[in-house]
Amino acid sequence: MCGIVGYIGHRDAFPILIKGLKRLEYRGYDSAGVALLNGSLEIYKKQGKVSALEESIEGSPLKTTVGMGHTRWATHGEPNDTNAHPHYSHSTDYAIIHNGIIENYGSLKKELGKKGYKFRSDTDTEVLITFIEDIINEYDCSLEEGVRIALSKVVGAYAIVVMSTKDETKLVAARKGSPLVIGVGQGEYFLASDATPIIEYTNEVVYLNDEEVAVLTREGLEIKDFEALSQTPYIHTLDLALESIEKSGYEHFMLKEIFEQPNSIADCMRGRLKAADGHLVLGGIRDYTNALINAEKIIFVACGTSWHSCLVAEYIIEELCRIPVEVEYASEFRYRNPIINEGDIVFAVSQSGETADTLAAMELAKSKGAILFGIVNVVGSSIARTSHEGAYLHAGPEIGVASTKAFTAQLVVLTMIALKMSHLRGTIAERRYHEMLVDLERIPDKVATVLKQAKKVEEIAYIFKEAHNFLYLGRGLNFPVALEGALKLKEISYIHAEGYPAAEMKHGPIALIDENMPVVVIATRDKSYDKIVSNIQEVKARKGKVIAVVTEGDALIPKMADYIIEVPDTKDAFMPMVSVIPLQLLSYYIAVMRGCNVDQPRNLAKSVTVE
Ligand code: AGP
Ligand code: GLU
Repeated sequence: MCGIVGYIGHRDAFPILIKGLKRLEYRGYDSAGVALLNGSLEIYKKQGKVSALEESIEGSPLKTTVGMGHTRWATHGEPNDTNAHPHYSHSTDYAIIHNGIIENYGSLKKELGKKGYKFRSDTDTEVLITFIEDIINEYDCSLEEGVRIALSKVVGAYAIVVMSTKDETKLVAARKGSPLVIGVGQGEYFLASDATPIIEYTNEVVYLNDEEVAVLTREGLEIKDFEALSQTPYIHTLDLALESIEKSGYEHFMLKEIFEQPNSIADCMRGRLKAADGHLVLGGIRDYTNALINAEKIIFVACGTSWHSCLVAEYIIEELCRIPVEVEYASEFRYRNPIINEGDIVFAVSQSGETADTLAAMELAKSKGAILFGIVNVVGSSIARTSHEGAYLHAGPEIGVASTKAFTAQLVVLTMIALKMSHLRGTIAERRYHEMLVDLERIPDKVATVLKQAKKVEEIAYIFKEAHNFLYLGRGLNFPVALEGALKLKEISYIHAEGYPAAEMKHGPIALIDENMPVVVIATRDKSYDKIVSNIQEVKARKGKVIAVVTEGDALIPKMADYIIEVPDTKDAFMPMVSVIPLQLLSYYIAVMRGCNVDQPRNLAKSVTVE
């Protein structure tokens, strides 16, 4: 959600900023803009795509080696050219780009209005830069001092970058609750919401912490906290290859990411699991292992697809570890008064590591003394840094807005944690444990086998591409898979879809079934197999069209269902890692056939950094 890029150095800034904005497009946005500084402060901005911004610029943009760019995801004021960022201050001596929300912008605007300041846009952002200008005028201070003082009076969550004609040698950046990464080059610095715009120039980065202000000049980087105390920047070396953020010949990032899953799952297990030696170690969970295995209750907080992987984890942890698990939508959890006691265990699961609701749920749990485990894909992200301990997914960058490889990696990491815990707790028989390790190690090959059926899934997609509704049914561990399949279809093809526990169907949704209703049933051979066979009969009795995901060699369901997709057999606990694959493909192909923008579906953002 919203993208920030900045550059100061010796290269031509404009192409770097535009390329950076394009790298950030996947986060979701509605307008784009750039500010360039060289003698004058020029702003170019436009509603729509970054390419529309490029086309709208007449002649050559200002030649300079310092500038900043933004993709906006509107919160205050409709998406239009005027509300797009960057915004000038009242005098136009200062400009800002901003991600997030300034909650007290209303009262600030009123105060500034009384002092005679006028506003051009409806945004909270313009109020902030005007406020900063007012403070600089009043205190006669530097840009960074003005930013620091202003932010100490501001309520909200934000990442900002500001620049000024009064001092062209610097960019000033600050954050609280929204991500900002600084790329460290030779006599040059980069700024971005995540590392993707930076990695082709440098793999050395500094993650700005909450309540810090950074001053970037060609000579160096200076960071102070909101109390004006100097902080020593810690330089991380990123292990990210440029190919991992490019399409590498695939038509869409989503398709690439679906097909990457045999590798991303293997990467996620690498160094952690070696079944032959009985080796299962998650390096990021050490000091709190005892607290974890002696937990009386475990709470999971997450949103969207990540929430679905938590539902799978609930089944597995309760089954293997016999510890009660609660799975909460982070957005609900944070506004209740949840019962959390000192030392309780809370898992936050997130691909981006920046989801605002999940972060806020963690903060709430932390304030009540909980121990936080973060299960995150993006290295160095806010959720990773807010956790006491945790495990990275190692799935590589996920660019498609619809989460695919992060979901399967979450399932793998959570399953490895459950297996390890159950082993340490002694709630799993030694033999079963070893058998499970062996089978888990085979998942990448099984996923590869499912992917070989892509053509068949594409044919089924063609048949149902015009449907208005879809129902997804599953039982036990395949129920969260049904939810996930429905979410995938909704978000990228805009077809209404619902996921249901198959047995619940007769308590309502069955009324929807007629000859036009496609019903995807995840009916692999597990302990609820006979029950789900009955549910398929119920759908067929009402003339619904059944697309069944079944275990290889199933002889019964193919006789009842209209279409069949086979997946290899595996332990029940691992089936979601395999059975979700055809559902990802189905949604992908349907969306492509309907002409939808698969990688950037309307209204959606990859990382939801506002609540
Ligand atoms: C997944 O396809 C969605 N785009 C969305 O539900 C996502 O899973 C959710 O916003 C949570 O994101 P996170 O994993 O980055 O926290
Ligand atoms: N609140 C700001 C606006 O609406 C910033 C939104 C964003 O994060 O892009 O302009």
